[in-house]
Amino acid sequence: MNNEKTSAATVLAAIEITKGFSSPDKTIPVLSQVSINIPRGDWITIIGPSGGGKTTLVKILAGILTPDSGKITIDAEGQDPCRMIAYMPQNDSLLPWRTSLGNAILASQIEGRSRKEAQSEARELFGRFGLAGFENLYPSELSGGMRQRLALIRTFLSHREVLLLDEPLGSLDPLTRTTMQEWLLLVWQQLGKSILLVTHDVDEAIFLSDLIYLFSRRPAHVRRQFNIELPRPRARAAQSLIELKAKILDLIHTETLNG
Ligand SMILES: Nc1ncnc2c1ncn2[C@@H]1O[C@H](COP(=O)(O)OP(=O)(O)OP(=O)(O)O)[C@@H](O)[C@H]1O
Ligand SMILES: [Mg+2]
Repeated sequence: MNNEKTSAATVLAAIEITKGFSSPDKTIPVLSQVSINIPRGDWITIIGPSGGGKTTLVKILAGILTPDSGKITIDAEGQDPCRMIAYMPQNDSLLPWRTSLGNAILASQIEGRSRKEAQSEARELFGRFGLAGFENLYPSELSGGMRQRLALIRTFLSHREVLLLDEPLGSLDPLTRTTMQEWLLLVWQQLGKSILLVTHDVDEAIFLSDLIYLFSRRPAHVRRQFNIELPRPRARAAQSLIELKAKILDLIHTETLNG
């Protein structure tokens, strides 16, 4: 279904990004010459070891951190580049003093959209994400998985073209996670977003992505990239998916074993 999309123009790219964090006595190198491309309308996923630098790269793409060298390019196609990217952080960053509904419409309110319109749009998403009836609860009254779904709703309601999702499904139980993957796929296809996902779940990456970047340990560089040109929705038990998963896991384990 998306095979023809892989030749789409790049909407967001990281080019040879290098980044380290300094303390008074040392510098930790985190990213080493990392380049990734997000073609317009595609689903790109990064997988890699914990502490390897994935979140750091996403924060650089979101404009929250600056790289030591390298650059970020955005093809805005006449839009305001500052209004193109929505970032869902690894911790959900919900505002404790706003209700679920209030959190969900935050970005819409900041952008000056009508409160009523934003609320009715949000209520529809609460239903689709299995949160109907929880609109008036505060984040502290929700489970971890519910908070993540709320943060996802907020990200989608930002109406931005590029979504950076840092482990958005990490707190969900396997069943809810699978359902959410299917729902995300549907919404992505309906709304035509460009998505960069960070996940530790290889099945999730293969089920969703046009392209997977496999990062090395810190300092991260791109070890391999895998184009997945299989039509969607993908059968999770298909032989081609199982073979690809085995290949990726094998690469991850090889790096771990080689110390
Ligand atoms: N603000 C910071 N100051 C100092 N060091 C940092 C900072 N942010 C991240 N680091 C360090 O950079 C490295 C990479 O962190 P990062 O959060 O990017 O990894 P990650 O790949 O997202 O890991 P995980 O999969 O566990 O989320 C880690 O060693 C971390 O301690
Ligand atoms: Mg991270």
